[in-house]
Amino acid sequence: MRIIVTGGAGFIGSHIVDRYLELGHDVVIVDSLWSHGGGRRDNVPSQASFIHTDIRDEGLARVFSDFRPEIVCHHAAQHSVAISSRDPKYDAQVNVLGLVNVLEASVKTGSVKKVIYASSGATYGTPKKFPIDEDTPQRPESPYGITKMVGEHYLRFYKKEHGLDFTALRYGNVYGPRQDPNGEAGVIAIFIGRFLAGQGVRIDWDGEQTRDYVYVGDIARLNELALERGGGECYAIGTGKKTSVNQIYKALAEISGFEAPVEHGPKRPGDARDAQFNSKLARKELGWEARVSLLEGMRKTYEYFKERTAASA
Ligand SMILES: NC(=O)c1ccc[n+]([C@@H]2O[C@H](COP(=O)([O-])OP(=O)(O)OC[C@H]3O[C@@H](n4cnc5c(N)ncnc54)[C@H](O)[C@@H]3O)[C@@H](O)[C@H]2O)c1
Repeated sequence: MRIIVTGGAGFIGSHIVDRYLELGHDVVIVDSLWSHGGGRRDNVPSQASFIHTDIRDEGLARVFSDFRPEIVCHHAAQHSVAISSRDPKYDAQVNVLGLVNVLEASVKTGSVKKVIYASSGATYGTPKKFPIDEDTPQRPESPYGITKMVGEHYLRFYKKEHGLDFTALRYGNVYGPRQDPNGEAGVIAIFIGRFLAGQGVRIDWDGEQTRDYVYVGDIARLNELALERGGGECYAIGTGKKTSVNQIYKALAEISGFEAPVEHGPKRPGDARDAQFNSKLARKELGWEARVSLLEGMRKTYEYFKERTAASA
């Protein structure tokens, strides 16, 4: 299949690109290498074409009409809750207007059958009941959660109005190799970066806030399954397990053999207390479930960053 992966130079997008290439698909990556995101030119494999452009650019339609993709896997975004709280206007420009530009280009081209959309568990905010599933009301508490949820509404509109199919994947906290250790999100990568540099870490709030951490390899497989299945649906994506920041710290101290000094910070605006997802619907309809345990995934991630640090020394 011909597939455009927006955000394909970023952390999650680049793993999806690798998977699609392994399966023999033709891949074009559209990415602006945004300075506050995790996109890097060296995440782009030589077998994929790379178009360095912004998803908000009017020229996007030309990229689509030249390549005539059958699938658009949309992962380009302003991806940080913290940045969205500081700059909601920018967040909306990229996550709403950028998405609408991608959907318009898809419709105009006429070749696109489906858009796979990276939504987020942040669309749920703080629900009354856990684990979260597709029946849980979405009440986002950050501009980022709001724009990701608005994106799902646009997908429904484009399906109804233009017959453009979609699958929306509401990810829990994704982690793994290539995540940006200098970003504002992604506690596992941030901690590993600091552990390897022999530096201390900052734990915000009391460290007892929990997340459902999913390994990026499992997410790449999910995006493979979504090529053929899950039309018109949104899925809550996680392992079903919740883990606190303090538990992540302890596990990494064990893996690395280093007890990084800890400094405590306040709660960050927009941060939810807990997250835990029941992915029963994804199991039933997509045949997906997380396979990589958190400990195994953290070990793989630690080894990746250790090798990268050694190579750049
Ligand atoms: N990492 C997670 O835990 C998580 C959880 C839920 C949803 N998501 C979503 O998954 C997607 C990928 O996130 P990630 O963690 O890999 O982040 P990332 O920053 O590594 O990847 C996003 C990519 O989008 C690109 N990008 C940003 N703005 C752009 C623009 N205006 N035009 C073109 N490209 C642009 C960046 O350069 C980057 O390569 C995002 O949509 C994010 O919201 C991530």
